[in-house]
Parts: sequence; C-alpha cells; structure tokens
Amino acid sequence: MAFNAPRGTADILPDEQPHWELIRRTAASVAERFGYRRIDTPAFEDTSLFKRGVGEETDVVQKEMYTFEDLGGDSLTLRPEGTAPVCRAYIEHGMASWPKPVRLYYVEPMFRYERPQAGRFRQFHQFGVEAFGDTSPQVDVEVIELGWLFLRELGLKGLSLRVNSIGDSIDRPRHLQALRAYYAQHADELPKVDRDRLQRSPLRLLDSKEPESQALAERAPRSVDYLSDANRVRWDQTLRLLDSLKSVYPEMDYAVDHRLVRGFDYYTHTVFEIEPSGAQGQSTLLGGGRYDGLMEALGGQPTPGTGFAAGLERLVLNLRKQTPAESSGTGVQVVAVALGDAASQKVVEIAAALRARGVATVIAPSGRPMRDQLRFANSLSAKYALIVGQKEIERGVATLKLMDAEGGQSEIGLDVHAVLAAIGQRAAH
Ligand code: HAM
Repeated sequence: MAFNAPRGTADILPDEQPHWELIRRTAASVAERFGYRRIDTPAFEDTSLFKRGVGEETDVVQKEMYTFEDLGGDSLTLRPEGTAPVCRAYIEHGMASWPKPVRLYYVEPMFRYERPQAGRFRQFHQFGVEAFGDTSPQVDVEVIELGWLFLRELGLKGLSLRVNSIGDSIDRPRHLQALRAYYAQHADELPKVDRDRLQRSPLRLLDSKEPESQALAERAPRSVDYLSDANRVRWDQTLRLLDSLKSVYPEMDYAVDHRLVRGFDYYTHTVFEIEPSGAQGQSTLLGGGRYDGLMEALGGQPTPGTGFAAGLERLVLNLRKQTPAESSGTGVQVVAVALGDAASQKVVEIAAALRARGVATVIAPSGRPMRDQLRFANSLSAKYALIVGQKEIERGVATLKLMDAEGGQSEIGLDVHAVLAAIGQRAAH
C-alpha cells in the first residue's frame, strides 16, 4: 500500500524552500519594522473559542473545522484562523497591561476542511498581524500599509486593494434589515443556496459566487449608507489616510467595494482585501479588518483590534509565476572524499572539525572509486572536494580540489586549520 499526503495538504520540497524562506523572512522583517512582535499559539484550541469568536453561523464553524474529542473527553479544534487564538492569548497573559497598541504577528499553519483547488488547501499557512487597544483609523491604515509593503517587498506586482466599512453593532442590524427587505422582493431571482443563506447570513449574499446573486448584489443596500454620523466621519478619515499613503505608494489605487463583507462574524468598521488585478477564483492574497467586539465576546475586557492575514501558499503560487522555482543547490561547501579505511576514519574527524567551525561539509559515500565520489561532490554543487588517501595520511597531507570548470587542485596539510586557510574561511570558534 502506498501512502499519499492527505487531500488538501502538500509537502514543501527542498527546491521550493527558497520561496518559503523569502516569504517568512520578509514577513518578519516588515512586521518588525512596524513594531510588531512575534507570537506563536498552539495548533489546537478549545472548540468553543472558534464557535464564539468566528461565529456559529459562519461557513468555517458550520462545515470547515477539524474538530475532535481527545482521550480526556475535551472537544478541541485545529486552528482554522489566527485572530481568535491571539485574542485568547492576550486575555490569558494579561496583555491589557502592556503599552498600547499591543502589536503582534504570527506565521503559522491553519486547518480548514474546504474543497481543495488551486490556491485552496486544508492545511495552509498564514502570516498574520493583530494590533490591540487602539480604535483610531490610523491603526487600520497602518495594517493595510504593512500588508502592502510586505507584498511589494516580495516583488509582487499589479495588486489591487479593495476596502469597505461594514459599520458597528448598531449600524449592522439596520443594514441587515434593509438587505433582508431588498432580497425578500427578489427572492424568486435567487438560486436555492442563496435563498437558504438569506435567513442565516444575508451579508454573505453580497459576495456570493452565484451569477444571479452577483447581479442582485450590485444594486443591494450598501453598508456605508447605514453608518452612524460618527462612523461616517471615521470612514472618511480612513479613506483620507489611505489617500495620503499614495505619495509613498503611487500604485496603491484602492477601490471601495460595497460587496466586500468577509466571512467571519467578528468584523466591524473597516474591512479590506488585496488580490492580483484581474484575478479570478481563489485569489485573495491577504484579507483582514477591524474587530472591536471580539475580545469581549471571548470573555476579555472590551478591547478594539485590527489586523490581517495573508495566505503563504497563494503567495508562493504568485511568486512562482513571476520567478520560476530553480534548484537552490545544497549550500554544501566541502565534500570529503576518503580512499581506504584509514582515510575514512580521518575524514570523519576532519569533517566534524570543519562543521564545528561553521563549514558545511558532507562525506561522500565510502568504498567507491574516486571518480564516483567526485561526481557525488558535483551533484551537491560543492565548492571543494577534500581528498584523503592512504598514502597521503602517511605523509600528513590531503588534496583540495576546486570543483569548478578548471578543477585546480593543491596539496595541503591534513588538519582542519590547513583546510580553513586554503578555503579562506575564518574559523568561527
Ligand atoms: P481569511 O480571509 O479567512 O482571514 O484568510 C486570510 C488569507 O488566508 C486569505 O486571503 C487566503 O490568502 C488565505 N487562506 C484562507 N483560506 C485558505 C485555504 N483554504 N487555502 C489557502 N489559503 C487560504 C482570516 O483568517 C482572518 N483571521 C484574518 C484577520 C486577521 N483578520 C483580522 N486579523
């Protein structure tokens, strides 16, 4: 019987690692440049954290969670998203007493039982940021700026930013009422899936993938028309702050999208998404927004929050379109070649000494002719072959061969200092 990776999961092979490394490094570098500090939370949490945080009626909670009972009888769920767990950690560790806003970021695997397709997986990775304790639109725009700079530093081009305001818990019921009334008038034009959705979550009709619903959504009541006066002012400020970023990012041509609602119940006020321009299908690279009621819903003190998460698999797909994955080589500097038993023992010692001083060294498979061992060194793209034979041991020397086209070689002393001197590497210790 042959095993495959479970459906919707993927192995990340060595040649693909440079793209992943680039993304992880850029994420940390950009987040830290904005004062965000890294947090890691467990891969699973109490199931009720997500039910309460993400919302009972959302697709994620209704049909996408990996929920299981452990041997102690507790109901646990593999984390489908990172915001609720970070809020849980904020409350648990008393971060309310830290200087505000508390800025945190994470790069972690997430799990959702979704139908796999290009860019959609059951285990995927997110880079996310969350800022707590500040209600001002400056912080919303800060996280948008952070996301934009992150994608730009990755070298992704042709991105489009969409924003919307869905208001707060006072505006929302008025908008929902208007939506229900509007859709009630057009119920017979709705496909069955959306007629069912109308009762549970009318907002989701706005970003429905059904063609009939899309036409109706265009003319549906807009959340921005139901904002209180204060929230209207806040929204205008947000857009003005976004405009001011254009002097640094002239390409940031954002659009207000009245159909942008996001899939979780915790959002309030500003929501946003970034995707490649003209993209179709599973294309959103990064999405987020403000969630001022979430901390309280999870049992904490009322604490505003705002943030986003980006999907790493989708970033890799897009990076690969721009720069195809190329064999990254192994980074091995020296391949040690032993000819004969006594040489094998000496080579183990000298390879250990080189590694202990920071030189990437691999011992070629023993007991083969020199030609094969040099071919092995070539296959690793090693820079040098260090060849030790029986006679050389007696004379206390070795041959250092440069593995380039010329293949120049020289005789050196058989000890680690001579090798280090010959390859020009300063000893780390
Ligand atoms: P989300 O929109 O569900 O938001 O996910 C954010 C990003 O994760 C998506 O834009 C996408 O790139 C990636 N993603 C989501 N599901 C999948 C999947 N099945 N396969 C591959 N990639 C996927 C959140 O998760 C919120 N917690 C974001 C947030 C943070 N809001 C505020 N703070």
